[in-house]
Amino acid sequence: MGYRVGIVGATGVAGSEIVRVLEERAFAVDELRAFASPRSEGRQIPFGGSTVQCRVLSDGAFDGLDLVLMEAPAEVAGVWAPRAVAAGAVVIDNSSAFRYDEAVPLVVPEINNQDLARHRGMIASPNCTTLALVPVLKPLDDAGGLRRVVVTSYQSVSGTGHAAVAELEQQTRAFMDRTEQLARAAFAQPPFDGAVVYPKPIAFNVIPQADDFTGDDGLTKEEWKLIVETRKILNRPELSVSPFCVRVPVVVGHSLAVIAETERTLSPAAAEEILGSAPGVTLWTGQTYPTPLDVAGTDGTHVGRVRKDPGADKALALWISSDNLRKGAALNNVQIAEALLERDLLRVPH
Ligand SMILES: NC(=O)c1ccc[n+]([C@@H]2O[C@H](COP(=O)([O-])OP(=O)(O)OC[C@H]3O[C@@H](n4cnc5c(N)ncnc54)[C@H](OP(=O)(O)O)[C@@H]3O)[C@@H](O)[C@H]2O)c1
Repeated sequence: MGYRVGIVGATGVAGSEIVRVLEERAFAVDELRAFASPRSEGRQIPFGGSTVQCRVLSDGAFDGLDLVLMEAPAEVAGVWAPRAVAAGAVVIDNSSAFRYDEAVPLVVPEINNQDLARHRGMIASPNCTTLALVPVLKPLDDAGGLRRVVVTSYQSVSGTGHAAVAELEQQTRAFMDRTEQLARAAFAQPPFDGAVVYPKPIAFNVIPQADDFTGDDGLTKEEWKLIVETRKILNRPELSVSPFCVRVPVVVGHSLAVIAETERTLSPAAAEEILGSAPGVTLWTGQTYPTPLDVAGTDGTHVGRVRKDPGADKALALWISSDNLRKGAALNNVQIAEALLERDLLRVPH
């Protein structure tokens, strides 16, 4: 028996990857309904050797569906996810709309599957940067007791969505033959070519701002999410997390330089042994390391350059790269759906 599945945001970078992951993992889909904005109404989405026509959201859109995968902006999910639950579908929401709601489980199946048991129809999936980090932190926390985590991210443009990928492509073409100008600071001053999504040029540049600033504390939304989501998933509400999120001109793949300080000493060899058998983690041993181009299109959270931090006792330094559209979005969403099925939890409790 298969399931009736809806995807909201089926034309986006996360939604397109969901379609691929459902096919690859042979998720039992009897009916697929694809939704996007009015811009994409009528667009054909290839699925299962055929195509599905994209619709806009409207009354009754979710009637009869078992599962809705929300791959849309938070403003859209905030309105439509509760309507999908009211229509009887379980919602897995990839946006930030419900992640910080205590009543909504925020799930990474390798880590906190047990939280699925308390769902009331809605399950949230974390931000792509959090999803690159927590599969590595969890086994280190279990073994050594995390005390403090310092993270600098190098985030790809697909983490911002399809418009950002187009912006990087367009600027890269425009800047290609202008290396002399690129060596002059004034080049980054407005007006510059085609910047709509980011506040500064992203091609041949790095931007130490991912998403908007949250308020007086100087954090961006992405940094705030990394702190709050890491604590919620690891069930460590007091954990000290110090993030600095940076956008880089990479198409797919988020990377993180991490210092993990623990209560008990973990040697690099012990940490490698632990990470080598951690679920969902691919270890690169010794001085080897993954890069975004190594991991794009792969499922694991890749970790390498595990070493002692020379600046602190009981601290490890390591490097992570992970495909933000696979584990960082679509794969985690489908793994949550699979975990619900395994536990017979794909239904809205009364
Ligand atoms: N990209 C990542 O790595 C990643 C990782 C984790 C979580 N997320 C979250 O996943 C969600 C989707 O992100 P994305 O990166 O895939 O963005 P995206 O590429 O910009 O795609 C957004 C999708 O939402 C659709 N949409 C926009 N307004 C809509 C409306 N009013 N009604 C119905 N559909 C609407 C868009 O349709 P059109 O194509 O017609 O505009 C598109 O299909 C966001 O909440 C994001 O924060 C993304």
